[in-house]
Amino acid sequence: MQRKVTKAVFPVAGLGTRFLPATKSIPKEIMTLVDRPLIQYAIDEARAAGIREFIFVTSRGKSALEDYFDAAPTLEASLRKAGKDDLLELLKSTNMESGAIAYIRQQRPLGLGHAVWCARRLIANEPFAVILPDDVIAADKPCLQQMIESYEETGANMVAAMEVPHDKTKAYGILDVDRDMGDRVLVKGMVEKPEVDEAPSNLAVIGRYILTPKVLHNLDQNRKDNRTGAGGELQLTDAIAQEIDGQGVYGFRFKGQRFDCGSKAGFLQATVSFALARPELNAEFERYLRELVGVRKAAE
Ligand code: G1P
Repeated sequence: MQRKVTKAVFPVAGLGTRFLPATKSIPKEIMTLVDRPLIQYAIDEARAAGIREFIFVTSRGKSALEDYFDAAPTLEASLRKAGKDDLLELLKSTNMESGAIAYIRQQRPLGLGHAVWCARRLIANEPFAVILPDDVIAADKPCLQQMIESYEETGANMVAAMEVPHDKTKAYGILDVDRDMGDRVLVKGMVEKPEVDEAPSNLAVIGRYILTPKVLHNLDQNRKDNRTGAGGELQLTDAIAQEIDGQGVYGFRFKGQRFDCGSKAGFLQATVSFALARPELNAEFERYLRELVGVRKAAE
């Protein structure tokens, strides 16, 4: 019997330069979709999938993230005094069991592979998940849960996958498909950020992974051998690709809508979409959007 996946790594060390000046003083992961920071969506998804240990790979200037998941005694006391039980209840989603969350610093920005490698001692010899909080996925069944269910049938490495426009392949890890089984595809090659004419397909890796500890071993070896990949960084994609002829790699076409919250346009789309999905905002917001579009059309 393979081990259950109970640990997840959240690489959150990035500088978030695309969102400057906002990210001058707040971590990108604390930026808010409606009323919840990006990181909350990632944590909720992980919890729903049965993750019990949360490993954050952070960097200088990210202490607001640590505070977010800490108890807030003064705030809680004043809410209690004011009888605001609904708000107290809301705060519960930010509570972490003592010892369930760990923070590791990535001292230098040497790549996503390096960030995951930084968490190696906490992961030890277990399968683990990686969640990139920039990729927000709205789904009836949370994406990571869909993946864990599929992973339990194979026990092999698995990456979330989605078709992207051909001219966008340079922004992603791209899969070369051996066998297409619908939801699941067996992978025979993986390339990080290929040029358009070198991309083996338009099936892109999205920021959810379930990995075997062997991938950590590969990262370790690649690091020792100075085997860097795209952008001169230690790439996670490369360490996973090394398992194609080992423990195997699958792509998983999840059901759901993915928003690229690492870009401004994607962040705005997610904001609109999540606001429309909120019962308390839906009517007013939809009316506003209709008016806005109507006014634009009339002006044309
Ligand atoms: C990372 C991965 C890439 C993947 C992407 C998904 O790239 O390296 O393989 O396709 O996330 O969002 P990044 O967006 O960090 O450059």
